[in-house]
Amino acid sequence: MKKKKIGDSDISKSKDSQLIHDENKKNDVNNMISYEEKNRMNTNKEKIELPVIEVKDFNLWYDENYALKNINISFPRNKITAIIGPSGCGKSSLLRCFNRMNDVIDNCKIQGRVLFNGNDLYAKNADIRLNRKKIGMIFQKPNPFPMSIYDNITYGPKLHKIEDKKVLDEIIERCLKKAVLWDEVSDRLEETAMGLSGGQQQRLCIARALAVEPEILLMDEPTASLDPIATQKIEELILELKKNWTIIIVTHNMQQAARISDYTGFMYLGELVEFGKTIQIFEKPEKKMTENYITGRFG
Ligand SMILES: Nc1ncnc2c1ncn2[C@@H]1O[C@H](COP(=O)(O)OP(=O)(O)O)[C@@H](O)[C@H]1O
Ligand SMILES: [Mg+2]
Repeated sequence: MKKKKIGDSDISKSKDSQLIHDENKKNDVNNMISYEEKNRMNTNKEKIELPVIEVKDFNLWYDENYALKNINISFPRNKITAIIGPSGCGKSSLLRCFNRMNDVIDNCKIQGRVLFNGNDLYAKNADIRLNRKKIGMIFQKPNPFPMSIYDNITYGPKLHKIEDKKVLDEIIERCLKKAVLWDEVSDRLEETAMGLSGGQQQRLCIARALAVEPEILLMDEPTASLDPIATQKIEELILELKKNWTIIIVTHNMQQAARISDYTGFMYLGELVEFGKTIQIFEKPEKKMTENYITGRFG
């Protein structure tokens, strides 16, 4: 049976993920209690004032695969936090929990809490629609809708009942300027977005996410499919965006994490191994495993 796949992880074939799966199973039996102790320590070490997202004792399974193990982490407001770790360690799964994208995966089960501005995203009365508006997501492969540049950006606002052409025009200009794309496309807003380069498409997706006035931007390896110049533009843009937005970026490009993030979390086999200021994680990691990973000994 073909499993449902979301994002970039190829879950059906990868040998690595099978190995990780087996390793997870071994760890599950041996380490149930220590996950909790270890992960709580990882969070408390770095005190985050007024976190925008707080993950508390969070676990996630895909059928038998225990993919997130008692995660505790808080994300600071208006900062860039990078999540790093080898393929299959649970980075995308964690990110998807913040806008409840895992809800659409049949075999996915969760336990624990994710607070957004203090409110549980998984509470019975949580407003999923509003939360999705507030927590935008950018994927590895730019995914513009097959429509004009203009319609891509006004899509979200129109869903939220903004119809006035003048208001929509303002949104277009503001968001394209924020995404540093305005100068390149202002004279061809009616042309299809599919004609843009990869880097432009990714900036368009960021502009589209901004159009519904989010508070947080989740980015899952947003430059993995881009060339170095397009990557640099996106990195500059991300640094600019943090003035107004909280950014959580998954990357397995460690130089990128070191270049742009304020905080970094290192994950391995579904656990948060270490979390702290980026400079500390890269220059003075506390855990041997973090050091081994950032010095390229595995990954
Ligand atoms: N939709 C899915 N269905 C089943 N298993 C999945 C799914 N997505 C991810 N997984 C599994 O969960 C684990 C973590 O995957 P993922 O979050 O994609 O890791 P990363 O983003 O760090 O590469 C892996 O073992 C992966 O195979
Ligand atoms: Mg991933």
